[in-house]
Amino acid sequence: MSEANNSPVPDTRALAEEHERLGRAALRLITDYARSLDDAPVCSEATPEQLIELFDEPLPIEGSSAEEIFKHVERDLIPHAMNIPSPRYFGLFNPTPLPVAVWADVVASALNQNGAAWRNSPSISVIEARVLRWLCQLIGYGPESFGTLTSGGSEANLVGLKCARDRALEGARDRGLRADGSNGNLIVYASEQCHYSFVKSVDILGLGRENLRKIDTDERFHIRTDLLRAAVERDLSEGHTPVCVAGAAGATSTGVVDPLDELADLAREYKLWFHVDAAYGGALAFSEKHKWRLRGIERADSVAFDPHKWMFVPFECGALLVRGGGRVLRDAFDITPEYLSENRGGADVEYDFFRYGQLGTRRGMALKVWAAMKSLGVRGYAEVVDRQVELVNYLASRFDESEEFERVGEVETALCCARFLPAWARAKTPAEQDELQRALQQRVERSGGAWLATTVLHGRRALRINVNSFLTERRHIDYLVELLRREGSKLMREGGEL
Ligand SMILES: Cc1ncc(COP(=O)(O)O)c(C=O)c1O
Repeated sequence: MSEANNSPVPDTRALAEEHERLGRAALRLITDYARSLDDAPVCSEATPEQLIELFDEPLPIEGSSAEEIFKHVERDLIPHAMNIPSPRYFGLFNPTPLPVAVWADVVASALNQNGAAWRNSPSISVIEARVLRWLCQLIGYGPESFGTLTSGGSEANLVGLKCARDRALEGARDRGLRADGSNGNLIVYASEQCHYSFVKSVDILGLGRENLRKIDTDERFHIRTDLLRAAVERDLSEGHTPVCVAGAAGATSTGVVDPLDELADLAREYKLWFHVDAAYGGALAFSEKHKWRLRGIERADSVAFDPHKWMFVPFECGALLVRGGGRVLRDAFDITPEYLSENRGGADVEYDFFRYGQLGTRRGMALKVWAAMKSLGVRGYAEVVDRQVELVNYLASRFDESEEFERVGEVETALCCARFLPAWARAKTPAEQDELQRALQQRVERSGGAWLATTVLHGRRALRINVNSFLTERRHIDYLVELLRREGSKLMREGGEL
């Protein structure tokens, strides 16, 4: 704040000076943080109650200086953050963000463009169209395709299913689901491994949670197309309306890719909308070595593909791509409020992203994606994706050669599932073995050495390990295996924890 100006908000000269001062302070916090990542515990041991105490302040009546606020951040917030960017974070699909994307996002914040209407975000909206074109091209879509950036994969799936619903039931958008009084139940099909956002989406779209058919998977956790066909036939014979089949390209629990080509055939045969949830696995498209797994994705009517997962873009940023182009999204979402009806009569309306999806005000998300894609290029992404898949295959081989672990499923992306089952645990009941996985995850978490999740696969709990960070190396994988062993044998000694 300038001294001449006693107002709590700066004038433009003071604004620049404050940015400079705080920029330096933030830069120091971020660089110190980055430097600490190799050694720092991955997560804090603090309980919610302890954290509530750290931030238990009354409503601030008087303002405090930015320096004090940043000190508070450094003292109480950063030490208790989950170290998602750590090379030993093996958790959900949460990446180490690329510095170029982080700083592009800072620039986007400072410019505060509102990407809803082109007029309020002219250059970033055009960049959004550009990155969407790049993503469409990557997955093999033609030039007419288009899309929209979203807050994440959940919203991308919702937008895709909205297009599916509207195509199946003309008039649903304007008159509601029972518009013609005879549509029966509208059914969406996905594997039992589908992300929970499908459940929410069918609810939000008025289809009802019971009308999401979760189809069983085979022993490698791919959707069983024979059961899918049987379910569609059964629904047709009962007078329901099959609407959409969704395939996973990188399922949340296993990372595996459903047989997309087969699903595309089936969708065509029954005239269903074909949606692919490639929120995570879409990045396989960068890799010459692994992109064959996505074969058939280019036949999908819509694809969810999140830059904030395997493209190392900081939260938030998802994308929904549509083969049929912007017209499909406009039919589903377009509206012209009075205060957004002025345009220059040119192409500007084409870049009004509020017309293409659910979001109104939206930050300039495209800038960080654009910066990341320009910075790494397809080759750079391919190199990281290939390296991470290789690392996870290495982890799988470590599990396979050990008598203490039993691998579950296949490695098709950078995700591997396994169960810790040393000789002493094999005689235990299934429920006790499941509890062992949970107890081991807890111990690893409390050790601060690494973070991983557990999941349930065909009814049994397993460890779920995903390499998310471009910082992860073999030594981190070796460390993880040793940590699991060490904490596992402590569990055996303590026995009572099970
Ligand atoms: C396969 C898949 N689809 C969709 C989502 C939802 O994405 P988001 O959390 O960005 O909304 C996830 C989240 O992990 C996911 O794994």
